[in-house]
Amino acid sequence: MKIAIYPGSFDPIHNGHIDVIERAAKLCDKVIIAVAQNPNKTGLFPTEERLALIEEVTRHIPGREITSFDGLLVDFFQSTGADAVVRGLRAVSDFEYEFQMALMNRSLLDELETIFLVPSQETIYLSSRIIKEVARLKGDIDGFVPPTVKAALQAKFE
Ligand code: PNS
Repeated sequence: MKIAIYPGSFDPIHNGHIDVIERAAKLCDKVIIAVAQNPNKTGLFPTEERLALIEEVTRHIPGREITSFDGLLVDFFQSTGADAVVRGLRAVSDFEYEFQMALMNRSLLDELETIFLVPSQETIYLSSRIIKEVARLKGDIDGFVPPTVKAALQAKFE
């Protein structure tokens, strides 16, 4: 049984994340979507809301599990017995940060492999940060997030 962890902030989940989860689910038996809790970074949505949104919009994906973790990703990784960490790689701009994280995680735990998946062309430019900005300024976010997430974002910026 192959298990992948897909960690992230997911503040909130968007179509690019969902695309990566769908791709990971085709390669692994189980994909654990893990919301990182960062006490220094509050974000727009509290962890419970992020989890509920993920739960709702990933129902169609077989073998997905949803949880949150605090502390180091390597510790969470070990506690689950997962085989790899999955991350989406959107553009050259992501590369340095992702490469740093992958190498840091590997130096903390040699058996932690990071697998990079390339999102679809339709979602490759999406980020939660930019989507929140567009939503805050009352722009059209159809096509970037599922309807449930759109409604949750609009409620935040009413
Ligand atoms: O969606 P994000 O914000 O790009 O995800 C970053 C995340 C949550 C994967 C990363 O910050 C992380 O792994 N945090 C857990 C704490 C940790 O292990 N930090 C060291 C990573 S090198």
